[in-house]
Amino acid sequence: MKAVILVGGQGTRLRPLTLGTPKPMVPLANKPFVSHVLDHLKSHGVDEIVFSMGYLPEGIKSYFGDGSAFGVKVAYVVEDRPLGTAGAVKNVEKHIQDGNFLVLNGDILTDLNLKSLLDFHQQRGAAATIALTPVSDPTAYGLVKLGDDGEVTGFLEKPSWDQIDTNLVNAGTYVLKSEVIGMIPAGIEYSFERGVFPRLVGKGLFGFGSSAYWMDIGTPEKYLQAHYDILEKNVKTSVSDCLNKDFICVEDGVKLEEGAKLVPPVMIGPGSVIKAGARIGRMAVVGPGCVIDAGSIIEESVIQEGCVLEKNVSVKRSIIARGARVGDRTVVTAGAVIGEEAVVGADNILANNIRIYPQTTIQAGTIKF
Ligand code: GDD
Ligand code: MG
Repeated sequence: MKAVILVGGQGTRLRPLTLGTPKPMVPLANKPFVSHVLDHLKSHGVDEIVFSMGYLPEGIKSYFGDGSAFGVKVAYVVEDRPLGTAGAVKNVEKHIQDGNFLVLNGDILTDLNLKSLLDFHQQRGAAATIALTPVSDPTAYGLVKLGDDGEVTGFLEKPSWDQIDTNLVNAGTYVLKSEVIGMIPAGIEYSFERGVFPRLVGKGLFGFGSSAYWMDIGTPEKYLQAHYDILEKNVKTSVSDCLNKDFICVEDGVKLEEGAKLVPPVMIGPGSVIKAGARIGRMAVVGPGCVIDAGSIIEESVIQEGCVLEKNVSVKRSIIARGARVGDRTVVTAGAVIGEEAVVGADNILANNIRIYPQTTIQAGTIKF
């Protein structure tokens, strides 16, 4: 079985995390987000992947190569300009054989049972089957109205509240018959959500509801929530095996000094140094090769690879991106996001969803909110 993963978006709502790193490569629990998507596909026997890309394709290509190191076959197609979700699939047509194939939005963390989805699709003889998930606010998604036997009776992308009479939305995973590609005009921007699916209503379009874990990693808040869910094993990922019965995952070569505290659930990446009197957790992920100095506290937060937190730094409900450095006594809290390789001096207070851009330098004691 083949899967096309759509990763052409710019991930603007995740900025500054996506300014230097394409969204699929932003680390989630210490490995690129889309690597979890590959694990999920592989666990259901999908072993041929086509990445449909636009923005910053090089990082993805150099990480996955031909896929052999990951036990899958990977091909890449890069668009000169965004072709839309369906145009992107048309553009990779030469990689699709006859029969059924999967299409996935590249920003979804789920443990959806793909085998059940495929069985459902085949039993109905569907042209296309859309996986569905319930959400509390459908306005940010594609609303799917279902009739008897799971047939889709309406598809409304980004509906307004007065159009909403169900909580089921498009979960961004589809099984398509290869014939569907014939409905997509070539060379222009065209989407499944506003083009193909509304036109397929009544012509073999089905919806498959499930209660599987589902999260789109679209914003810093959701990025944090996905980490909490991984740490609590609300979704099955490769991290589930690393977390011991106390929900602690300490990877290879970590140096935990005496008097350093880990409060579960917590994950520490390979080669990191946690000094005496530092406290990590609960709900914290520290990336590979970080140094967390004495007296620093990290709670409900994600520290990506290669960061240095000097003494008595306090981080809560925040994200610190790769290679950033935070000086003594600085407080990072309430949804702050520090971009890659930023240097924040001592005695700052970064709060209220503040976004620090990559490579920025903030002098000691200059920000206090
Ligand atoms: N190759 C390529 N080219 N990929 C694209 C393009 C494009 O022109 N446009 C978007 N993508 C990719 C994005 O990278 C992302 O992985 C996926 O397609 C969906 O695009 P988003 O921009 O994330 O859309 P959304 O989140 O607003 O809505 C979509 O996802 C929801 C579920 O999270 C829709 O599919 C909704 O119907 C759905 O409910
Ligand atoms: Mg999205």
